[in-house]
Amino acid sequence: MQAIKLTDDGSAQEHVRESTETDFATRLLAWFDQHGRHDLPWQHPRTPYRVWLSEVMLQQTQVQTVIPYFQAFLARFPDLPTLAAASLDEVLAQWSGLGYYSRARNLHRAAQICALKFQGELPVDFDQLLALPGIGRSTAGAILAQAHGARHAILDGNVRRVLSRYRRVAGDPASSATQATLWQLSESLLPDERLADYTQALMDLGASVCSRTRPTCLLCPLQDDCGAHLAGAVAQFPQARVRRERPLRRCVQLWVQDSQQRLLLKRRPPTGIWAGLWSLPEADTQDGAVEILRADGLRPLSSSVLTSLRHEFTHYSLDIQVMAVEVESLALTDSETRWISAPEALALGLPQPVRRLIESQAAASAHPLSHS
Ligand code: ADE
Ligand code: SF4
Repeated sequence: MQAIKLTDDGSAQEHVRESTETDFATRLLAWFDQHGRHDLPWQHPRTPYRVWLSEVMLQQTQVQTVIPYFQAFLARFPDLPTLAAASLDEVLAQWSGLGYYSRARNLHRAAQICALKFQGELPVDFDQLLALPGIGRSTAGAILAQAHGARHAILDGNVRRVLSRYRRVAGDPASSATQATLWQLSESLLPDERLADYTQALMDLGASVCSRTRPTCLLCPLQDDCGAHLAGAVAQFPQARVRRERPLRRCVQLWVQDSQQRLLLKRRPPTGIWAGLWSLPEADTQDGAVEILRADGLRPLSSSVLTSLRHEFTHYSLDIQVMAVEVESLALTDSETRWISAPEALALGLPQPVRRLIESQAAASAHPLSHS
């Protein structure tokens, strides 16, 4: 690799940049052919539906976790029309354990829109794809590049890190100015061919060689002209996020079991946090929580603090005080409230702290509640 001299001459610089950029993709693809991931289930075959599903699952979850969920989800909903025809409850149950359930709700809504408007196919048009729930600019690009080989850029967390190191892009990574610079860079580096492999290659490099905490620059195909590496400044890119204090909210949740050790769960309203998931009865205060039981015709006999949990949302922290309550159980008439065994509960869409709690309570007891 020859050294590149930057001049003040605009056109010469333009030329140098172009040849570097062709080179970027070529080197990345050569690296990918040898070291990239070629056996991911969504690569065989790379159909739009499979790529879409994988991209949505991978938005907040790591590859190794996603793979079994991806396969089980596809076995249950093999194509987009099947997904569109399913009930939201079935989709949430199949998503159970992956977390960030708004992804599942958006997936389901998007499938229904495609069934109605696009003959049961995902649109190939970028703007139509972007307009679907749960599909942002990077996901839309990733779908079109991987499923159709179309020339679209991506910019997920991994790619942001690689590119900000490669070109030493400073600035708060959350700021729109930094985002705009990185998007422009990502677009300018796109090759004309092998877009599906190129897209995967960029993500793979970010997930392995150019990892967040331990980049191995000496194995990197970009080391010869990577700005951060050449300057010995890899640790400075991307710049650390500006952290904001998250406000704290408190709530009380009730752990109510009947004589058969079944747990009382209520479905959350269709909007707001944990929308549509099954959760413990919850209110802002203990009195409020007890009121909920009374409204269901349940008479609390005694209560004690079971545990306290802290759950972090993007915009606030939630302190959850969990009260164990003994009640005289009565038949419930409300379809949104159920007595349910621990194994059955764990197969539903649950908020993550509730899932953890049920798992730990099940592990701690050898009751019928224990997870079989
Ligand atoms: N993250 C998002 N998409 C991905 C993919 N196709 N492979 C690995 N990680 C990803
Ligand atoms: Fe990342 Fe190092 Fe490669 Fe630069 S040389 S892209 S910092 S791994």
